[in-house]
Amino acid sequence: MAPNSQAPVLCIDGPSGSGKGTITQLIATKLGWSILDSGALYRLTAIAALRQNVALDDESSLAAVAAGLDCSFESSKPGEPVRVMLAGEDVTSELRLETTGDNASKVAVLPEVRAALLQRQRDFQQLPGLVADGRDMGTVVFPNSQFKIFLTASAQARAERRFQQLKAQGEDVRIATLLQEIEARDARDMGRKAAPLKAADDAITIDTTEYSIEQVLEKVLLLVNPK
Ligand code: DC
Repeated sequence: MAPNSQAPVLCIDGPSGSGKGTITQLIATKLGWSILDSGALYRLTAIAALRQNVALDDESSLAAVAAGLDCSFESSKPGEPVRVMLAGEDVTSELRLETTGDNASKVAVLPEVRAALLQRQRDFQQLPGLVADGRDMGTVVFPNSQFKIFLTASAQARAERRFQQLKAQGEDVRIATLLQEIEARDARDMGRKAAPLKAADDAITIDTTEYSIEQVLEKVLLLVNPK
């Protein structure tokens, strides 16, 4: 469906582990808006490339994979966890693996891949509104959106949050390893030439290091619905 330019877009950009995903879910449920999880599109591109034996540095083939993604995001109710389907296969668990995130960050460096995913992302702009979670929502994908947030937190705090999440899932990981991975991913996401991770000039930056999820949610809601 073509985008609806009347639909408001709330952009939530920031590095991995800044709380974007959680805040996006909560705020979208609260407002009754839909969600664009743009990272999932880069993750799906990486998974589809592996399925099709395309190397993660073969730019033109990867762009073709990205353009041809046959995927859907299925949820039974707003706020419920989504099932992500790729060519009829449920890839929800694989999508969230650290290795998938790392591969996504590699394919996301390539300008042709980013260009191939651009319109697909813009098509998510539909009434009553969209919460768009990513790295370049406010800078590239929805530069005219009226609500832009940049969430950040120290690398140490993000590594600790990730550690707690993975521990709860029964995964055996070390904080020091997670911290190294986060720093490497930040460097790649911020250092790339195409749409690097950075706050839009008109974004409001919130450092979530010392805040609870509820406190961040309150600040973001104030932006969309000023009292
Ligand atoms: O948000 P995430 O962890 O699912 O994103 C995975 C990778 O995809 C991230 O390291 C960089 C890339 N990405 C991007 O380049 N642009 C976006 N809008 C979203 C994600």
